Amino acid sequence: MRLPLLAQRRSIFIIISVSALFFLTWLSQPKHTHITTIIQDPIPFHSHSRLLPFRFWNHRSVYPERYKDSSCMKCPGISDLKYAAASWQWLPIVNGSVYIYGAYWDPRFEEPLVRILVYCDVVPLPKLYCQLWFPNDNEPQTVLATPVYGWKPEWDGPTMGVNEPYILTCSCRRHPPEKEIAPVAVSVVTAPCGDATNVLDIQNAPFNVDINKKTRSYRNDSSIAVCLKWLHYRNDISGRLVEWLQLIKQFEVNKVYIYILRIHQNIRKVLKYYVEQGFVVVTEIDHPPQISGLQQSKSDRDFRDLRRELLPLNDCLYRNILRHAWLLSIDLDEIIVPPPNETLSSMIEAQIANRSGRAFDALVFRNFFVLDGAQKDLAGPSKARILSHTWRAIVPSPAGYMIKSFANTSSVIAMHNHLPISCHTPCSFSDVPPEGPGRLLHFREKCSYDTKDCPELHDVIKEDNLASWRVTVLKEITHILRILDLEPLE
Ligand SMILES: *[C@@H]1O[C@H](CO)[C@@H](O)[C@H](O)[C@H]1NC(C)=O
Ligand SMILES: *[C@@H]1O[C@H](CO)[C@@H](O)[C@H](O)[C@H]1NC(C)=O
Ligand SMILES: *[C@@H]1O[C@H](CO)[C@@H](O)[C@H](O)[C@H]1NC(C)=O
Ligand SMILES: *[C@@H]1O[C@H](CO)[C@@H](O)[C@H](O)[C@H]1NC(C)=O
Ligand SMILES: *[C@@H]1O[C@H](CO)[C@@H](O)[C@H](O)[C@H]1NC(C)=O
Repeated sequence: MRLPLLAQRRSIFIIISVSALFFLTWLSQPKHTHITTIIQDPIPFHSHSRLLPFRFWNHRSVYPERYKDSSCMKCPGISDLKYAAASWQWLPIVNGSVYIYGAYWDPRFEEPLVRILVYCDVVPLPKLYCQLWFPNDNEPQTVLATPVYGWKPEWDGPTMGVNEPYILTCSCRRHPPEKEIAPVAVSVVTAPCGDATNVLDIQNAPFNVDINKKTRSYRNDSSIAVCLKWLHYRNDISGRLVEWLQLIKQFEVNKVYIYILRIHQNIRKVLKYYVEQGFVVVTEIDHPPQISGLQQSKSDRDFRDLRRELLPLNDCLYRNILRHAWLLSIDLDEIIVPPPNETLSSMIEAQIANRSGRAFDALVFRNFFVLDGAQKDLAGPSKARILSHTWRAIVPSPAGYMIKSFANTSSVIAMHNHLPISCHTPCSFSDVPPEGPGRLLHFREKCSYDTKDCPELHDVIKEDNLASWRVTVLKEITHILRILDLEPLE
């Protein structure tokens, strides 16, 4: 028997919604339950389905009588969406494209806001609007978006034809006397009215809750998270990853958010282990196409590629503004080590106390290189590079170079891997002096920028920053590599 087309569509939609609901419920389950009995070898990673408004679609299909059509706009369904890549919706505009990634609820400031991460390859950015979808009988609203450029004009840009990062910001204030309520889905459009071809879930938006109650109960004011912009390794770096994660765990970071592009099978094993422990959250991402056909030299292209790192970092920020107090964005070859026997959060607390109430948006650390060629002896197995290397450059990299910082999630608006780019008020940075407390160590094979020789190779000093953790952490790494059936350290 064939169902009429409408009913067919509807049943497909219901099947998709229901499976998405199961999927979401399953994602929110504690990971120590016996998941494997439900699905064979699940990949417990966040994929692009996280970005779609399944909560909203589902609610509308269960309570259709509560939703009325608007004369100005129609809410898109899953079949109305245009995609540019697996996780990027696509809004074609005159002379180019807007690529739309994720939307987030931002109640941190006076005005309740929705932030949307997009790329656009047209300069100047055209006027864009948010169509905001609210639950129940609340009419949708359309609002002019204010763009925050996610890169610095003095670093060149925005450039026509290049995918430039923006954080579109839309106010969610409703026209009085309507009650304040959070929108739960948003579309980006070029004119206030009209049908949209994109729609996103507004992540963390409270569904059916009066937003004036500003509940913040789940935030931990001393909690720190690390954001790792992405893993793109075809070779097996699983040992290095375990060492890095185990040290970060030892320093009492609460969670590590890792973005992945393409990874070796053994890295997948490691990530699965940490995801199931609840220590790591993995998100699969992809890049939208660069279809402008702009002619670029290789060096131009590489430099412009740095803009792509801002997507995972800002996603990491906006997913976590209400969850963690500090975010640290570092790479796999870097680590910030607290003073002996301390944790990163006790170190930060001490720094806050020492600044007698002066607020800051980022706590900044100078970079010390630890080069492979500078090691005169090893304090552990050479494969445990961070734990075995103790000879660091005497002089840190010049001020401003390769610095890393803890970003204050109460005030930062645009992340970058060194320093925040934009804050609620002009960004204020607090520098930790080169002598500490705490050290940013940067483990590299060679001198920077392909020079054969550099002072960091000779002007070195032995400093055993990891002495108080070495024995414990080496034991843990050995244990984890063994249970995951990966190559041992020695
Ligand atoms: C599109 O490109 C053409 C040719 O470069 C230009 O004249 C026009 O102003 C552009 N339109 C917009 C809206 O950017
Ligand atoms: C908050 O985070 C700190 C630092 O990681 C941790 O020691 C503490 O137990 C956390 N508190 C709660 C209530 O989770
Ligand atoms: C760190 O803790 C260990 C074991 O508790 C102790 O032996 C060592 O003296 C401590 N180091 C410092 C610098 O406090
Ligand atoms: C506290 O601040 C003073 C002055 O800024 C500085 O000299 C001192 O080293 C700091 N102490 C710590 C523990 O950071
Ligand atoms: C973080 O930012 C908030 C909002 O601007 C501010 O109130 C707070 O004092 C800042 N934290 C620190 C440690 O400066």
